Amino acid sequence: MVGGKRKGFSSHRKMIFQRKYRFLNIQDSWRYIWIVIGISVTLCSFFICKNDSDLVSVKVRFQNRAWAEPVKVEQRLPGIPGLTAKDCGSCHEEHYQEWKVSTHANAFTDLQFQAELSKPNSPQWLCLNCHIPLSGQRKEIATHLKDGDVFQPVLVPNKKFNAQWEKEGISCGTCHLKSDSEGNTILIGPTGANAPHPVEKNREALHARCNDCHNQDYKLNMSLVCYFKTGDEYKESIHFPKEDCVSCHMPSINRSVVLSSFNKEKRNSHRHTFIGSGVPKTFELFDAQWKGYQSGLKVEEPRWSFIKNENARLNLTIENSFAGHSVPTGDPERHLLIEAVLQSSNGKEIARKVQKIGQSWKWYPEAKLVDDNRILSGEKRKLVLNLKIDRDSLPAFGILRILHVRLTKENAEHMRKNAKNAPSEIGEKLKQIEKHYPYSNVFYESKTDLKTGKIRLTSKSDLLSASKRGNL
Ligand code: HEC
Ligand code: HEC
Ligand code: HEC
Ligand code: HEC
Ligand code: HEC
Repeated sequence: MVGGKRKGFSSHRKMIFQRKYRFLNIQDSWRYIWIVIGISVTLCSFFICKNDSDLVSVKVRFQNRAWAEPVKVEQRLPGIPGLTAKDCGSCHEEHYQEWKVSTHANAFTDLQFQAELSKPNSPQWLCLNCHIPLSGQRKEIATHLKDGDVFQPVLVPNKKFNAQWEKEGISCGTCHLKSDSEGNTILIGPTGANAPHPVEKNREALHARCNDCHNQDYKLNMSLVCYFKTGDEYKESIHFPKEDCVSCHMPSINRSVVLSSFNKEKRNSHRHTFIGSGVPKTFELFDAQWKGYQSGLKVEEPRWSFIKNENARLNLTIENSFAGHSVPTGDPERHLLIEAVLQSSNGKEIARKVQKIGQSWKWYPEAKLVDDNRILSGEKRKLVLNLKIDRDSLPAFGILRILHVRLTKENAEHMRKNAKNAPSEIGEKLKQIEKHYPYSNVFYESKTDLKTGKIRLTSKSDLLSASKRGNL
């Protein structure tokens, strides 16, 4: 470098140039670093911005869907200590006791629900929007979806989470609470009665609430659909509009609606048991639910006949007289099983034929309703079941049983296999699912003496006992 100085300007210049060049070299590597940093920052911010712009708000993704977001309610109302069902129950004791045995009160703790929720690919936030719909019941709240994908929610922790409320499932507030535009909690009642808490009179809103969950139809992806059409079925029903969801599932009763210490007159009130299928969520709840349970079907006397000693035939007429929708309705898995059984004189089974009434879905590769033979409201259905019998066996009795199935044995086995994914307490129960979860009930049974033609109907209390034993 020194020599270069002596060699003249040019070389000096060259040297300086070289030095400068070298210096520039050093600067350049920094520049490169800066350039790299710059590009990275730009790219990152581009991706962040891109992600930001691809965050779709849940409200926008599911417009006009009541279940897109939890119902926001402040956890305060003047005049009462709290808003959980237990709080309401401190004055509305009978309502609370009735609701407690309902399926609504079990919508979160339900083993089947918990099993499905713990599947690795479950869009939990969405399930919870219908099964625990009040904001205070939620540990986390989904505000946005990445790329609009229901399986990639942005979950915000909820400081106002109330664990007691979470367990209550479809709690009182699901139907009775909402917020006004300023965020104040409103309690909705049918008459606007004078109470310690404010009441906004809106009977119509209370009646309309059912369809927010029981009349929803949405395809989330190829194999996940939400398909409850009970509200649409109701509009086509023979009971429309004289009866509605509330008049059938919350029968009227004249009583005081609060503790007697309030000295309130008796008034028009409604049972809050919401009895439907008569298949409760636990065996313990059978007794309470069967007090108000009625099948939707009128079953006429079975007629057994024989053709050439080799074939037996059961002719049966059933009519959906009492339900304001199809039987069964709601959950696609629900179905009826009509069992025709021939027995020898010593009770040995000789032949059996089973017919299913319900929806049939193909789930893969794409969810599709492939068949639906449910009985429409008002429909009278004639059924024929043919049974083959051995030449040497002589049937003495013809037995007809009708089951209402909530959970199939196949799905119960899936639940058992997936028990390891669930929280341990639930997992333990899932391993012995048949002990904890009623799969079905038997709501009709008759035994025909084929010689005399005499028919013996099983009593409701014996049907209850058989249903409670499980293993149907
Ligand atoms: C401190 C006692 C008390 C508590 C707690 C309470 N209520 Fe009430 N509530 C009353 C009284 C008293 C009435 C008036 C009854 C009457 O006039 O027959 C009433 C009336 C009602 C009515 C009927 C209003 C109408 O329009 O006819 C509804 C609905 C109701 N309460 C819901 C609730 C709910 C839901 C909760 C819990 C969030 C709750 N209440 C908590 C005392 C209470
Ligand atoms: C926020 C959603 C929601 C609303 C609103 C709602 N339900 Fe439900 N309902 C459910 C869920 C979820 C279940 C099932 C819970 C389970 O099986 O674990 C259910 C179960 C039922 C059942 C029992 C079905 C059976 O299997 O026996 C009846 C009956 C019923 N609801 C009637 C009503 C009526 C009537 C209304 C309106 C007054 C109503 N529901 C409002 C979500 C709702
Ligand atoms: C005319 C009376 C009537 C009306 C109206 C009515 N239901 Fe029902 N519902 C019944 C009867 C009866 C059953 C029992 C059906 C059975 O299991 O045979 C039933 C069963 C159900 C079930 C249990 C599903 C099943 O089949 O296992 C649900 C859920 C239900 N109803 C919801 C509703 C909703 C929501 C509405 C309003 C859109 C409604 N119901 C209107 C009488 C009625
Ligand atoms: C699934 C919706 C739903 C849930 C959950 C619910 N209610 Fe109601 N409630 C109604 C409807 C609908 C009416 C009004 C019926 C009418 O007047 O036509 C009502 C009426 C009432 C009334 C007025 C008196 C009566 O019996 O008609 C009181 C009080 C009441 N509810 C308290 C409660 C309490 C307390 C809880 C929780 C333990 C509760 N409700 C849960 C739907 C619900
Ligand atoms: C639009 C509201 C809604 C959403 C969203 C929803 N459910 Fe439900 N769910 C219901 C209603 C209503 C019933 C009761 C149907 C009936 O009884 O006819 C029910 C019943 C059930 C049952 C009980 C079925 C039975 O026969 O006992 C399970 C399990 C269940 N839901 C799981 C889920 C899971 C898992 C998700 C999320 C993938 C989910 N639900 C999302 C409304 C909803």
